[in-house]
Amino acid sequence: MIESVIAGNWKMNKTIAEAVGFASRLREALGASPGPEVIVAPPFTALRAVAEVLRGSAVRLAAQNLHEAEKGAYTGEISGGMLREAGCQYVIIGHSERRTLFSEGNDAVNLKLRAALAAGLKPIFCIGETLREREEDRTKTVIERQLKEGLNNLTAGDIGRSLFAYEPVWAIGTGRTATPEQAEEVHRFIREWIAGQYGRGSAEELAILYGGSVTPANIASLMLQQDINGALVGGASLDVESFLQVVRYNNIQEV
Ligand code: PGA
Repeated sequence: MIESVIAGNWKMNKTIAEAVGFASRLREALGASPGPEVIVAPPFTALRAVAEVLRGSAVRLAAQNLHEAEKGAYTGEISGGMLREAGCQYVIIGHSERRTLFSEGNDAVNLKLRAALAAGLKPIFCIGETLREREEDRTKTVIERQLKEGLNNLTAGDIGRSLFAYEPVWAIGTGRTATPEQAEEVHRFIREWIAGQYGRGSAEELAILYGGSVTPANIASLMLQQDINGALVGGASLDVESFLQVVRYNNIQEV
């Protein structure tokens, strides 16, 4: 049984004070209540302060990016070791905004995955097709390539320490969510691909999150799909009450 995961990606939003306020409210609201694993990904500047607020709670901390080198002359960059020291357990890698706005290709993503794992961080490995690729019926080809090149030289043990996120680029920040069936089809494809490369056990233990305009209104129907194990939430994770509603998707289902 895969534990569900709800992760909030704040992108370039929130001051330290805002991030601390959010984390305090989240901690207080979740308490010790059982539910999905909850992860927040603040911007670099707020990581340490949020880690302090969340210390001893079940909420986990993620960074949104890292540099693949351990240290050195890379002005403006942050290493995996630095993120660990700041209190991160996770790091988002290969987000479509990094791929398109900062020209990160599959090879760069692969180096970052390896660096994260070497630093003891769990990667949240993001993949997804553009609208054009979907319309040209190339979704699975693109996903397969992102998997093959992104995971180059990674072991089954590495996969076991990772989360995957399927985020169709056309659904990110657009209000246009993939239907649960569209998402499920790709999630299943990803799981089968992992089974083929790393064995059925690895595939069945892998949490694959869906991302792209997830809200309190659509989370429950997405989570009903067999191969959707959680969500990577952007816009709806910025307001703590709406994020809490996504986290409590089970309750939404009941009303
Ligand atoms: P969105 O972003 O929920 O605002 O579409 C998702 C993401 O980029 O991870």
